[in-house]
Amino acid sequence: MLVHAFLVLPFLAVAIAADVTISPPASVPDYASTPVPRNLISFGIAAHSFEEYAVQSSSSGPVPNTLTIHLLESLTNSTGVAPLIRVGGTSGDRATFLLNSEQPDHTIKIVKKPGFQLPFNITLNQRWFTQNFHNSWPKGTKFIFDVPLARKDSLAVENMVRGAKWALDAITPAVRGDLFQAFEVGNEPNLYAGQDFRKQNYTLDQYVTEWRNRAQVLRERVLQPKGLGGAQFQGLT
Ligand SMILES: *[C@@H]1O[C@H](CO)[C@@H](O)[C@H](O)[C@H]1NC(C)=O
Ligand SMILES: *[C@@H]1O[C@H](CO)[C@@H](O)[C@H](O)[C@H]1NC(C)=O
Ligand SMILES: *[C@@H]1O[C@H](CO)[C@@H](O)[C@H](O)[C@H]1NC(C)=O
Repeated sequence: MLVHAFLVLPFLAVAIAADVTISPPASVPDYASTPVPRNLISFGIAAHSFEEYAVQSSSSGPVPNTLTIHLLESLTNSTGVAPLIRVGGTSGDRATFLLNSEQPDHTIKIVKKPGFQLPFNITLNQRWFTQNFHNSWPKGTKFIFDVPLARKDSLAVENMVRGAKWALDAITPAVRGDLFQAFEVGNEPNLYAGQDFRKQNYTLDQYVTEWRNRAQVLRERVLQPKGLGGAQFQGLT
């Protein structure tokens, strides 16, 4: 039997419970995501930590991380389903994507801010993508990649498109088939107002409008040129 997943959004429940009526359709609509296998193992790995799971150092430079690969292979062998890995979170939502020439020495740079536990923001070059979405992830592993929504300045959309393209190029080279599951747009928007990314009166409607606009840009400029369409987005986060 197939199981369909419904997400419960704690912040929505807290913020606007009085105003929301949810009426799930009686049958599964054609725009629903693919069914979630019961034995699915999935991981959310913070963007700023992903490299530590993906590679290890060697005398010839970074190579695929043996511990991670064996762990995931072992889980795949015991469940029959390869894992789904979401790379994102607060640091992913605040990532800036730089050409290798703009950041030649490091694949990732982490900016810290006093009093802020997570990285305040990160910069990733294109090599971060090609190096970490390597050939050795166990067969069938799927990835969700989180692209930024928090930024609203004039370069925000171009930055998002650049990161999304690099992610898709690295995750789906023709030789390996399709390891790409979906994009996630932003992360924890309920915290944006408290962290000065939006005004205090930021509303759910504004968030939904922003989410839809960014998703449409991703459809037109990143997914469709690669022949991808349909439900290629992780739901609200
Ligand atoms: C998973 O199964 C394959 C095929 O049987 C085997 O070659 C591989 O060693 C197994 N990996 C682990 C980590 O158990
Ligand atoms: C990242 O954080 C630093 C330090 O606060 C700041 O100067 C820079 O503008 C930030 N970059 C982005 C893209 O938010
Ligand atoms: C939200 O607050 C800002 C000031 O922080 C104000 O300029 C804006 O008009 C407000 N928007 C609404 C819809 O009340």
